[in-house]
Amino acid sequence: MTNRRTFLTLGASAAAASLGGVPTIAAAQLTPSCTQPWPVGVKTTPFTVPYGQTFHNRISAYDPSYNWTRLKKAYAAMRALPASNPRSLAAQQNVHAWYCQQCMGEPPPNDIHGRWTFFVWHRMFLYFHERILGLLVNDVTLRLPYWDWENAAHQNLPPQYYQGSLNDTTRELQPGHSVQRGDLPCCSPPPWHPNLITGTPADVGLDFTGIGGTATSSGNVEVSSHGYVHMSVGGANGDMGNLETAAGDPVFFAHHGNIDRIWYSWEQVSGNVDPAGLGAIGPYTFYDGHAWRTITGNQVMPTTKLGYAYDTKVPPAAKFRVKFPILLQQNRILRPLPPEQVRTVTAAPEVTVSLSEIQFSGTGAFNVVAKDAAGTHNIGTFFVVPHGKHAMNKTGSANVRFVVPAATAKLLAQPGTTIHLVHAAGRQLTATPPTPARLQGMTLSVR
Ligand code: C2O
Repeated sequence: MTNRRTFLTLGASAAAASLGGVPTIAAAQLTPSCTQPWPVGVKTTPFTVPYGQTFHNRISAYDPSYNWTRLKKAYAAMRALPASNPRSLAAQQNVHAWYCQQCMGEPPPNDIHGRWTFFVWHRMFLYFHERILGLLVNDVTLRLPYWDWENAAHQNLPPQYYQGSLNDTTRELQPGHSVQRGDLPCCSPPPWHPNLITGTPADVGLDFTGIGGTATSSGNVEVSSHGYVHMSVGGANGDMGNLETAAGDPVFFAHHGNIDRIWYSWEQVSGNVDPAGLGAIGPYTFYDGHAWRTITGNQVMPTTKLGYAYDTKVPPAAKFRVKFPILLQQNRILRPLPPEQVRTVTAAPEVTVSLSEIQFSGTGAFNVVAKDAAGTHNIGTFFVVPHGKHAMNKTGSANVRFVVPAATAKLLAQPGTTIHLVHAAGRQLTATPPTPARLQGMTLSVR
């Protein structure tokens, strides 16, 4: 690995350069996980499809035909390499930490989370990780499995990941327990919506802004199923519970296989094309097993350019039939919906409330609640994975959606109701009192 002193120098001068020569980042604030993955001054070359790349599907970790022997061998080889080798698991973990941290300060590319770079960057990361695994066992037909946790029958962490080189002893989620647990250490009483992960088809039915976010906001997938699974698997102290360490747990790659498959499923819906220039995202730098490569968004869409697809898709939920924007003044509902619209909402079997650019400060679980004269009503929970010990004061915004019962929807169509955010977690166990939410917009939609 790049030696720490070299990086500190680089980090300080990069920060100084961007701030007109005033060095504002003290070296002491930088953490070891802020180590630049590639050697200083290394020559990178643009990615081209490698010789020998053939097409193979990624299949479910629950598919009995998955070749676990090969994967275990590959991870054993990866674990055996010294951290100084860019193919080692430690180095892979560090690549993720590097792009997750506020190593050199926001804005991007220094944190690929919290915005629409999320899907694109992780697709790249998985591709190069998979390629390295394949090279380590001399078989580049190796494909990562995906953990399809949205399938009600597949909610336990795939059992093979508790074995040998695939195990990570820091996990809180134990064999035989569902990832959909009622006892997250962070958030008691359980505030989250029960269909948080099984509601994934609804995400696939959203527009890109809803599922994948914008240049400044997370989409719903990142802060719902994605964040929830990280925190449920890792708990407060496990690798998966913190972005700084998450990619040191092999199940990270099966989890993100499913995140990528959800985006892939969205891409297969007719009319869904590159929304607003995801193709231009990057370039990012990865090790391909032989050399450091730069790659941009247009090289990873569609997945077939990278020699893979998924054997199954998450089917999209039906399109919304009607959408009613709710007029807000800050966090207060300003005007009632007309009575016929209220009737439509209350008669619907299912109502989705979408909140755009709801702002949060900190990490962990955030519970969205509505207040009226009668009291406080739960709307739903979203999850921002802790970023690392040195990035606790993360702020950001997210586009989230929750399915709510008709009674709650009715409440959200009434003037005077206010929206609040309860920070249910972080590493502290105590919830904050509800604070007025700051958000851009709210819409009630029915299918
Ligand atoms: Cu880069 Cu699931 O995190």
